[in-house]
Formats: sequence, structure tokens, C-alpha cells
Amino acid sequence: MRKKITIIGAGNVGATAAHWAMSRGLADVVLLDVVEGIPQGKALDLLQAGPVDSFSCSVTGSNDFADSAGSDVVIICAGLARKPGMSRDDLLAKNVSIVKSCAEQAAKHSPDSVLIVVTNPIDAMVYTAFKISGFPKNRVVGMAGVLDSARYRTFLAMALGVAPRDVNAMVMGVHGDNMLPLVRLANVTGVPVTDLLSAEELKEIVHRTQHGGAEIVGHLKTGSAFYTPGLAAIEMAEAILTDSKRVLPCAAYLEGEFGISGCFLGVPVVLGSGGVEKIIEFTLTDEEKEALAVSQKAVQGQMAATGL
Ligand code: LAC
Repeated sequence: MRKKITIIGAGNVGATAAHWAMSRGLADVVLLDVVEGIPQGKALDLLQAGPVDSFSCSVTGSNDFADSAGSDVVIICAGLARKPGMSRDDLLAKNVSIVKSCAEQAAKHSPDSVLIVVTNPIDAMVYTAFKISGFPKNRVVGMAGVLDSARYRTFLAMALGVAPRDVNAMVMGVHGDNMLPLVRLANVTGVPVTDLLSAEELKEIVHRTQHGGAEIVGHLKTGSAFYTPGLAAIEMAEAILTDSKRVLPCAAYLEGEFGISGCFLGVPVVLGSGGVEKIIEFTLTDEEKEALAVSQKAVQGQMAATGL
């Protein structure tokens, strides 16, 4: 039997995630939204790509959570997106109530699923989904590290004139301006980027990565990024559905790892059928520890604002 993914929120990120899932032939997809017609229309449009793109998975649009029953993975994308001048935190009050009801419904209809949270501010929304669903910590995970690291890798590849896939680099911490793109460990097929780019060039790349989302909001004016956010969620879903044990940076619930407890923060994890099967802990430099502490503080502020 084919696996099943429910994507809650049929806006740009959710519909694009559905698109990537279908083009990979990953699973049957249910695209859910409160707005009548939008998920149905987008799903039907996507389904009609099947004969051309040679996928045979189904995609269904719905306004009814009952259609999501028995999903293996539920991706929560519902909520408001940023407009120019807004921080991710500005979205918190509105999105927390949306994510609460999504997590409640997901837990009711798909009690054995893994929840992937994409709604911003991600680190607080994944905490909200964790609290409301009652799921164990391994089955609730936030997307952002894959997106932020993809931006970091893209900018490094552009500066180096090399294939982006040969750039290995990771962003840890909060999905916000205080995220931590790790320079020390970034490399091109094993060659440290610190040997290939100047400190000044690397500083600029780190800064552009930290503001990568705002750069796109600035261009679009009416919303935020969706192609790579949607893909990042599907990359995580694929690792879970295929039990591939991919090592991806994701927002995971920390209980002592990296000296941090009681919050979700972007760290490298092993993703498999159990969700977050392991957090890969390693030794940080004093400077990196300080940067992660700043991230932690930012997330704790957001968590307090959820009132949970
Ligand atoms: C971004 C949004 C998804 O970084 O937070 O583009």
C-alpha cells in the first residue's frame, strides 16, 4: 500500500510541497485547507500532470480532516505568511491558534503520524504542535534547517562557481536572524570553504543566509518564499517515509543535547520511519556555543508568547 501524506494549508508552500511530492512519486497526498475550492482546484490541476510526468500517486483536495485519516506524515503549512517589514515573530499570535487546531485534528485522525511543522515562526509553532498533539518528541519536527542550509549552500556554490550539491554546509539554531550558519564545518567535497573563500566573503554569505527569507519577501512584496520551503518539507517527509536515515538539520526537541533543554532548535538529526531517531551531537567552539545560546533565547521568547 502506498504511503499517505497530508499537507494542511493549500497556499503557496502547501501546494508547492504537494507538487514536489507528486513529482517524486512519494505518496498519495491529501491537500487540506479551510477555504472551499482552493485545495480541490489545485489538487485536480496537479493530478492532471500525472500522465505527462508519469506519476501514479493520487492527490486529493479537501476541506474535511476526515479525509486525512491514517496519514503517515502530516505537514502543517497553514497560517499567514510574511509581508515586507514583518518579522516571523509578528505572525505568532495569529498562527498559534491555527497550528493548535491543525495539531489537534492531525492527532485525532492520524495518531501514528509524524508531524512536520512549516508554519512560522517555526520553532514556536513546532513547540505548539508538540504540546497540543501529545505526540512523543521524536514524532514532531520543524522544517527550517533544510531550507536555511540550502540557501547557505546555494550562496557558497555561487561564490565558488561549483555545483551546489557538492557544497556540504549546515545551518543550526533558530529560523530567524540569529540562525547559525556553521563556517568551520562547511566544505566542498571535503575541502574546507575557509581555504577557498576569504573571511570577508564568508561573512557576507553568512549574513545573506541569515536574511535569506527577508530577501525574497522584499522581492515578492505580497508573501514569502515557497519553492524551497515546500521542497525542504518534502525532503524530510521522504526521509521518514522511506526510512532512509538521512542526516538533515531540523528543529528537534532538545533535552540536554548541546547543553540545551526544553525547546525546539535546529540541530542535525537522523530522520527515519520513527521521525527524529537521533540527534547528532558534536563539540561546538565557544563562539558557536554563544551563537546557539542567542538562538535559544530567541526561541524561548517565542515559546513564552505562545502561552503554552
Ligand atoms: C523563509 C520563510 C519560509 O525563510 O520563513 O523563506
